[in-house]
Amino acid sequence: MCGIVGIVGKPNATEIIIKGLEKLEYRGYDSAGLFVANDTTSSLVKAQGRIKNLSDKLTPEVSGTIGIGHTRWATHGQPSEENAHPHTSQSQRLVLVHNGVIENFEELKSTYLAADTFIGETDTEIAVHVVEAFMNQGLDTKAAFKKALSVIRGSYAFGLIDKEDTETIYVAKNKSPLLVGLGDGFNVICSDAMAMLEQTNRFVELVDGEMVIVTADAIAIEDQEGHAIERESYEAQLDLTDIEKGTYPYYMLKEIDEQPAVMRRIIQNYANQEGEIQLDADLLNAMKDRDRIYIIGCGTSSHAGWVGKKIIETLTNIPVEIHLSSEFGYNMPLLSEKPFFIFLSQSGETADSRQVLVKINELNYPSLTITNVAGSTLSREATYTLLLHAGPEIAVASTKAYTAQIAVLAVLAKALGQQKGLAQAADFAFVHELGLVATAMESIINEKDLISELVAEYLTETRNAFYIGRGVDYYVSMEAALKLKEISYIQAEGFAAGELKHGTIALIEEGTPVLGIITDEVTGAHTRGNLKEVESRGAKTLVLASADLAKPTDQIVLPTVHPLLSALLTVVPTQLVAYFATLQRGYDVDKPRNLAKSVTVE
Ligand code: AGP
Repeated sequence: MCGIVGIVGKPNATEIIIKGLEKLEYRGYDSAGLFVANDTTSSLVKAQGRIKNLSDKLTPEVSGTIGIGHTRWATHGQPSEENAHPHTSQSQRLVLVHNGVIENFEELKSTYLAADTFIGETDTEIAVHVVEAFMNQGLDTKAAFKKALSVIRGSYAFGLIDKEDTETIYVAKNKSPLLVGLGDGFNVICSDAMAMLEQTNRFVELVDGEMVIVTADAIAIEDQEGHAIERESYEAQLDLTDIEKGTYPYYMLKEIDEQPAVMRRIIQNYANQEGEIQLDADLLNAMKDRDRIYIIGCGTSSHAGWVGKKIIETLTNIPVEIHLSSEFGYNMPLLSEKPFFIFLSQSGETADSRQVLVKINELNYPSLTITNVAGSTLSREATYTLLLHAGPEIAVASTKAYTAQIAVLAVLAKALGQQKGLAQAADFAFVHELGLVATAMESIINEKDLISELVAEYLTETRNAFYIGRGVDYYVSMEAALKLKEISYIQAEGFAAGELKHGTIALIEEGTPVLGIITDEVTGAHTRGNLKEVESRGAKTLVLASADLAKPTDQIVLPTVHPLLSALLTVVPTQLVAYFATLQRGYDVDKPRNLAKSVTVE
């Protein structure tokens, strides 16, 4: 999704901005642009498509000591050079980058900008014109920006430069992420710390409604009433090597391979030497008497929630409901008397989930965010946070975050069940079992050649494919299908195996691939029956089964692990299936079309 970088106080602003934008590429975008300036000159350059297109347009004259850059993922107006940021005001004096969506842009336009002309069709261009409209009423830049913030409704992270003051970046945020990074003789702004890690690892978080004046030597934070705010900086716990591909052709493959290490890191972070789980006592006390847990998430995170439901209900006896964020916020179900909310979000910035958390906070219900990003919006705004410790996930297709989410939900369930004195939780040797999963994951990861061959046999030509399973195997089927469709563009669906015959079986034709997941003895027998049903209608079936239930004809056999943790293992070959299917079709594995890594608009 859209990304912002900016710097003031270094002579090579152009180079720093381009590098920063490249670090944000993984988030998904369709155009990019930058503005740089110094005392005497300024340049605005934009390009549709990849950052490479923008770099190709840069000449030695495009240089400066201050600048802002942007990657745009279209919301208002098509991907085009005209709609790419930065945008300029009517007189061209002000230059603005923006992440988010301005809800009242039409009203702003008709109220303040009746005589203005516009280059593109974006809400951002209206915002920068509004700031200038207030300057035309006699306000200085800061006061005009502030007044504009008071009339703009919606989500935003703004970076604004006035060409007549090339020593200041004006910054503000509401609901969209934005950080200020501190340097020695320079300062930076960015929507994601990763973008500016080469410059600094000290950052200051901003709170919704604040405005910040950033110069080379200082940052001044003000709240809406104009009061100065003092805030400590923090050191980003990120390593540049975490965000490099190394020898891997794609981030997705690197991240699939990292999963055993992530499982072990989760053990290190949540268990002591004796293998006992150590969790915040306040969190467990807040959860133990709750009568229902609501897990809120989108996409892969929601799929991890389904597996977590099974684990939590088994170990804690607390009923769990799973809800899609985009549905829950505007269609809230009847809640139980004592609900507890868990927000699952790799990025911690997903706007659909955030709008639910805002409502939950208004209702004063306790909440926990499970996220990969410390300090993210969902983490800051929930009552409690647990981190995934998965390391940055760059590929748009989520892999290690899914398995980390399930593992951390299992950590929570084990600790909560024990807190409630439940025997099933005490008897579950979680740390030992997760260690076995990590080793078993390694053996699957070593089967890349086999999986690549199976993909060539089953998925090279096909237009569509189905994953089927029951219980947890169904939950994994949903995730497996999402992975396949989002990067290979094969129309894939994950079905409850028994549900096929109630309609979907009509889609089975000669050669349709149907992949069955089998890790449970009872339901597995039924799934095998369902595979026979589709085979007799022409489907080409492929079975992923755990070793204890496997038949000699099964194509992928997985080590048997604890049934509560089986999803951690069965999902791995399906991630590799998606990876190889995409590779064989010649698509960009890490940057699928139309998708963004962090979806910061509703
Ligand atoms: C999955 O591969 C996708 N990237 C997507 O479904 C993702 O899981 C979803 O957008 C939620 O993101 P979040 O975990 O950062 O909130």
